[in-house]
Amino acid sequence: MGIKGKTVVLTGSSSGIGEQAAYQLAAAGARLCLVARREDELRRVQQAIRDSGGEAWIYPTDLTDEVSLQATAAKILAEHTRVDVLVNNAARSIRRPIAQALDRLHDYQRTMDINYIAAVGLTLKLLPRMLDQGEGQVVNISTLSSQVPIPLFSAYLASKTALESFSRSLLAELGHKGIAVTVVYYPMVRTPMSSRTSIYKHMPMMSPAKAASWIVKAIDQRPARVGSLMGTAGSIALAALPGPVTRYTQPLFRLMDKRLKERSGR
Ligand SMILES: NC(=O)c1ccc[n+]([C@@H]2O[C@H](COP(=O)([O-])OP(=O)(O)OC[C@H]3O[C@@H](n4cnc5c(N)ncnc54)[C@H](OP(=O)(O)O)[C@@H]3O)[C@@H](O)[C@H]2O)c1
Repeated sequence: MGIKGKTVVLTGSSSGIGEQAAYQLAAAGARLCLVARREDELRRVQQAIRDSGGEAWIYPTDLTDEVSLQATAAKILAEHTRVDVLVNNAARSIRRPIAQALDRLHDYQRTMDINYIAAVGLTLKLLPRMLDQGEGQVVNISTLSSQVPIPLFSAYLASKTALESFSRSLLAELGHKGIAVTVVYYPMVRTPMSSRTSIYKHMPMMSPAKAASWIVKAIDQRPARVGSLMGTAGSIALAALPGPVTRYTQPLFRLMDKRLKERSGR
């Protein structure tokens, strides 16, 4: 347990929650391996960490490109004797009704590519080092929206739910070999990802710094889940009564969307 001295591989650390998590983990004494596509943004985050006396290395990578992912994993393994934690945080979100995605199978493919396949791919590459160490942790970032029946995000939510299922299998198979697995279920967070939906401008959201503190908690305490009471209640209700829970909440979501559209003048 604890954070000091741990080598943490953090994907999606060029922006949003990942960037803030990098700062907080570095301040707590972790050694950060920063992974994302934009090298200039990674350098900026690395510099800020070094300026505050922390340790960070950068690995510019397109995680949807298998060759790029494997080269980065090999480089991390060569440059660091231990890999204590992998945080699969890099992702993309798509907000689109299924009825408007009828000729857009690629929406489902590209969310799967980064949100699921890339996360599994990096896990498979780094897992042998964790098993050799007899100890390690995989933190997978998901969303409160997979715990309640939210409309309009089918591609995104399916990919996150796949990642949750993989996380459960990983813990069930390798928990007894020292591998901890944590899923983090975020509510809406004010980042470049959520800002792409203009009607969300007026929605109350968690700050990226608060969201980052959930990743810090995940690594410090190693629980199976970090999330909200609302999410836990939602997943229990959905498991018990999927039909009624979905039917009765949908008018509320439609009303919320209508209100947000009115407030944003659209
Ligand atoms: N914001 C929310 O409301 C919210 C709610 C629930 C869950 N989440 C989850 O929280 C996590 C962080 O999201 P965020 O809001 O902080 O989003 P963000 O600011 O858009 O950051 C996404 C990160 O993923 C990286 N990334 C995207 N595609 C990549 C690729 N192909 N290869 C490598 N890196 C890639 C981006 O870096 P580059 O562009 O430099 O590659 C960026 O650093 C995600 O898993 C998201 O699903 C967010």
